[in-house]
Amino acid sequence: MTQPSDADLDVLTYLDAGEDVRAQLIADVRHGLSQRPYALPPKHLYDARGSQLFEEITQLPEYYQSRAEAGLLERVATDVAGELAPQTLVELGSGSSRKTRILLEALRQAGGGAYVAFDVSDDALRQALARLAGEAPWLATHGVVGDFDRHLGQLPVGAGPRLLALLGGTIGNLDPAAQVAFLAEAASLLDDDDGLLIGMDLVKDASVLRAAYDDAAGVTAEFNRNVLAVLNRELGGDFPVEEFAHVARWNPAEQRIEMRLRAPRALAVTLPGADLVVPLEAGEEILTELSCKFTRASAAQRLAEAGLRLARWEVDEGQRFAVALARPAT
Ligand code: SAH
Ligand code: AVI
Repeated sequence: MTQPSDADLDVLTYLDAGEDVRAQLIADVRHGLSQRPYALPPKHLYDARGSQLFEEITQLPEYYQSRAEAGLLERVATDVAGELAPQTLVELGSGSSRKTRILLEALRQAGGGAYVAFDVSDDALRQALARLAGEAPWLATHGVVGDFDRHLGQLPVGAGPRLLALLGGTIGNLDPAAQVAFLAEAASLLDDDDGLLIGMDLVKDASVLRAAYDDAAGVTAEFNRNVLAVLNRELGGDFPVEEFAHVARWNPAEQRIEMRLRAPRALAVTLPGADLVVPLEAGEEILTELSCKFTRASAAQRLAEAGLRLARWEVDEGQRFAVALARPAT
């Protein structure tokens, strides 16, 4: 089978891979690494290497999320597509679009034929669309490279009815206030006959969660440290990347995993591209990702605050992961 060349793909880019990504990185680094406690937004984890590492994470024995969600999608896709009769599937944070195939097959059976994939990772998006073009020639694919924080409201969502999807538990990488803001913006893209399917990881035994974020093979550690490699490459930094320790802690009060990188010794890291020197004490940590976990009640509450109602809630047999169908509240 011949793969289409990159030039054949329909991709709209809000983010120039060079300049805009760099400008955003500089702004985030100046904000997050100039005051303590240090923090970086998780979107910078997903350069080409980071997206590849995330794919590897989804195959790990400890990382149950992707398998559990795929099983749930198999369970609900035909029903949901039958109910909404979507013409277009719009996926937010589409990554490799691997589990999406389950939804696309249901879309096809319901008479739909268009897919809009939106992701900050240019490489991951193009690879996914090239693969889909070979596998699903009946599908009209449109890629949008952009940032949830800045471009969600402008997303071209295609012909209705639409099914929007936010899979993988990605909603949990936002803090609760940002979840509501994100959901409200997504809700503003929905007409009354549209729906939003959301994958949510559930609150569970802390040991299961810790293992999922600190796997034996060390892939999650590499994924985490990759953000420092991005800073070194893009901003001429001198983080001793491999010396930083991966830390994944369960915060029971906030019901979330917090991923950090711990400095091995006292450092003064220079980031010439951001005109910044970052002093770190031995053992000082940088927050790199939150991964919030949900209950049915917390999910329904976030949705309600965003003007959405929980129309359907499906949980896998191991009670580990849920797929929620949200609809406009009015
Ligand atoms: N949906 C896929 C991928 C989940 S990983 C799955 O379930 O396997 C999270 C995805 O969201 C990555 O592809 C990442 O590039 C994307 N992402 C993270 N932050 C983003 C942002 N601010 N704007 C757009 N996409 C983002
Ligand atoms: C994309 N996101 C939902 C993943 C998560 O589980 O929070 C990212 C990830 N971080 C570490 N492992 C996977």
